[in-house]
Amino acid sequence: MDDEFLPVSFTLNGSTVRQSVSPRTHLADMLRGPLGLTGTHLGCEHGVCGACTLFVDGLTVRSCLMLAVQADGAAVQTIEGLSDAQDPVLMALQAAFCERNALQCGYCTAGMLATALELLRENRSPERAEIRDRLSGNYCRCTGYHAVVDAVELAAARLRAGEAP
Ligand code: FES
Ligand code: FES
Repeated sequence: MDDEFLPVSFTLNGSTVRQSVSPRTHLADMLRGPLGLTGTHLGCEHGVCGACTLFVDGLTVRSCLMLAVQADGAAVQTIEGLSDAQDPVLMALQAAFCERNALQCGYCTAGMLATALELLRENRSPERAEIRDRLSGNYCRCTGYHAVVDAVELAAARLRAGEAP
């Protein structure tokens, strides 16, 4: 039997979006499919790897674990919206990731950036161990984690010094 489709209305990167979705559709699938925002990646699809991390109502969420209909009335921000908004903390992270070679294939990067962005919004002086702990739910299959932690430290130092790009 076909799923019944349900209406969902939410703010996506600052614009109101209305969709009809199956109640079984995950937020990540709706974003990547009908809405065409493929910056949100899917790895494990069961909440382990962090590749699908984005912001819902200002907090990071694993969009493979959230149903699209649960976004009704919420404000969703993907890596595309954050980049377009030129969020200064995100820009500092992006620059530092490039400089420290904190990505290779880039598959994990949107999720890494979202997690690091949330951390630096809360704390501009995180200890290295805190960065590692916060990023422990984001898996990278190719770069290795030293460079990622280095990049977050570099971005934090620049933000503290008022040297954000
Ligand atoms: S795809 Fe969502 S946590 Fe891995
Ligand atoms: S850069 Fe390839 S998975 Fe992280």
